[in-house]
Amino acid sequence: MQVVPVPVDSRGLVVEILNETTASVVIVTAAHQTPTGVVLAPERRHALLGWAKERDGIVIEDDYDSEFRYDRQPIGALQGLSDRHVVTIGSVSKSLAPALRLGWVIAPTALVSEIADEKWRTDRGSPAFDQLLLAKLMESGRFDRHLRRMRVLYAARRNALVEALQLGARIQPTGLAAGFHAVAALPPGADEEHIIKEARRRSVGLQGLGHYRVQSAGAAPGIVFGFGDLNEDAIRRGIFAISDLLC
Ligand SMILES: Cc1ncc(COP(=O)(O)O)c(C=O)c1O
Repeated sequence: MQVVPVPVDSRGLVVEILNETTASVVIVTAAHQTPTGVVLAPERRHALLGWAKERDGIVIEDDYDSEFRYDRQPIGALQGLSDRHVVTIGSVSKSLAPALRLGWVIAPTALVSEIADEKWRTDRGSPAFDQLLLAKLMESGRFDRHLRRMRVLYAARRNALVEALQLGARIQPTGLAAGFHAVAALPPGADEEHIIKEARRRSVGLQGLGHYRVQSAGAAPGIVFGFGDLNEDAIRRGIFAISDLLC
């Protein structure tokens, strides 16, 4: 496989640039782009499906956290708009625990047996007992209850982060109120690497946007803040400890 990077802007993947490549498969995080946190805009969704149809290509929709939208209902999966060209993958890594290693694939009928064969060749299948337990959790309604409860908890953590960033560093994160991370732009010329190093020295773990980029040279600096596994107090203390680095 040859990997071809395609830019993302505030409306998601730039489909016009995808059109200029010879790619036949594209991977997107349409509901909540990793790491920028934007949603794929409606006209881009349609353009992307148009690209797939025209090229007879495949869109792999990495639906990794769409259960966790804090401002409105999650948007529908691309798969619902094109069941011949979209493969949606999801897992319980965000909703329950990454260590469970359980997920699902919703694929065009023509690809199902090939994907199942490949999965079998890769790891001889996922643990049956764990899958049965997950099915029980889902059928009983307890999984939905868990999601509803966790949404409230994570939304409060995100609010704590946004407030602390505004108060401590006067910066406003960009991206949706969703998921487990938020992104904030740094002033032009800021040194991402230095800020991350210095924050670590103060016991605060951060990631820079550069970590995710194919080409970092000349790109606008920014920080990715993970808030999923920290309580509100720890989030506030962490941000206040590094506020001077972010302004
Ligand atoms: C973009 C993205 N996709 C997928 C996943 C989940 O991967 P897995 O289901 O293999 O644990 C994550 C988890 O952090 C993620 O950030």
